[in-house]
Amino acid sequence: MRHLRDVRLENKRVLMRVDFNVPLDEEGNIIDDNKIKAALPTIEYILGQGARLIIMSHLGRPKGKREDRFSLRVVGERMKSLITANVYISPETVGPLAEEAAAALKPGEILLLENVRFQPGEEKNDPELSKQMAALGDIFVNDAFGSAHRAHSSTTGVGDYLPCYAGLLMEKEVEILRNVLNYPESPRMAILGGAKVADKIGLIENLLDKTAIVLIGGGMANTFLQAQGKNIGKSRFEANFLDQALRLIKLAADKKVEFVLPVDVVTAAELSPEAVPVITDVDHVADDHMILDIGPQTIDIFKEAIKRARTIIWNGPLGVYEYQQFAHGTEEITRALAESQAITVIGGGDSSAAALNLGLADKITHISTGGGATLEFLEGITLPGVAVCEK
Ligand code: 3PG
Repeated sequence: MRHLRDVRLENKRVLMRVDFNVPLDEEGNIIDDNKIKAALPTIEYILGQGARLIIMSHLGRPKGKREDRFSLRVVGERMKSLITANVYISPETVGPLAEEAAAALKPGEILLLENVRFQPGEEKNDPELSKQMAALGDIFVNDAFGSAHRAHSSTTGVGDYLPCYAGLLMEKEVEILRNVLNYPESPRMAILGGAKVADKIGLIENLLDKTAIVLIGGGMANTFLQAQGKNIGKSRFEANFLDQALRLIKLAADKKVEFVLPVDVVTAAELSPEAVPVITDVDHVADDHMILDIGPQTIDIFKEAIKRARTIIWNGPLGVYEYQQFAHGTEEITRALAESQAITVIGGGDSSAAALNLGLADKITHISTGGGATLEFLEGITLPGVAVCEK
């Protein structure tokens, strides 16, 4: 890995990719700014060396079009309150305005470019876009461990046109996770939750070869329950993955992996701060209710399994953590992890937020800023955003 500390930065224009894909509430306010805080050591180091810093990130999944709710302006405003240096916000990702603003930067100042995913070429890793981005800097620093599993223009493409170095956060994440990967203690367990079902079904398949126990909660459990013929009321699930879900349940049984789904759940008729939670077993979810958390019996089953594991990887909340009535499962599992003697790694914003909010972060071996990136890394997959710092 090429280290940032090995390069002279004075007066250089440093183009840095970070992962500022922070969770937002319905009004567009930042719920958790840990991803921004995690990049501060790299930012401060670069500015301290007398460089000009041009920062790029994605926010959400706007799919190549400008969508105001995914503007990085809110992130830029938060940066201003966290950093003493001048932070300018570019209304463009690339183009004449971005170029002008980058050229006007003085050493020790920061320019935050607009969301890279407003560009249609970003997710296609379009060389033209990569070139336009590269024109803004003299060297490229990748500190976006959370996006390292994406081979996009801003994460890897730009590395074809500029010398690339790993940022301090990238370096730290890779070092800690490599240790977990190379020296794991058995039995290994994965706890998977969250709503990004489509992203994770493929990963579960890989995990079945490498873990002894897989616990499933959160929105993604709904798809498995639906596939098993349970009535999940009006809960969200992904109809395209029902066959795959059944196949994975069978595969787990064939590989003798404990594959644990919720046996009871917390439901409500609506998702709102006033929603009244109801505990029910998975065979009796009311038609007009949706599943919003794992239930108390499931929590006990998960806790008992956690006690047996020696290495635990957790990604994704087990309920709708933003609402107190549906945060219990995620909080209880966080506590169980904090009490566990196992090597514990949490990846993903919401599950990490639970540990931080409960003041238990120091009881977890490592809280990664990556979600999908952490899981893929732990699967032994070479992440393109890491590889670009190594070539
Ligand atoms: C994340 O939140 O896991 C990263 O920022 C990656 O986001 P993505 O799944 O939209 O690429």
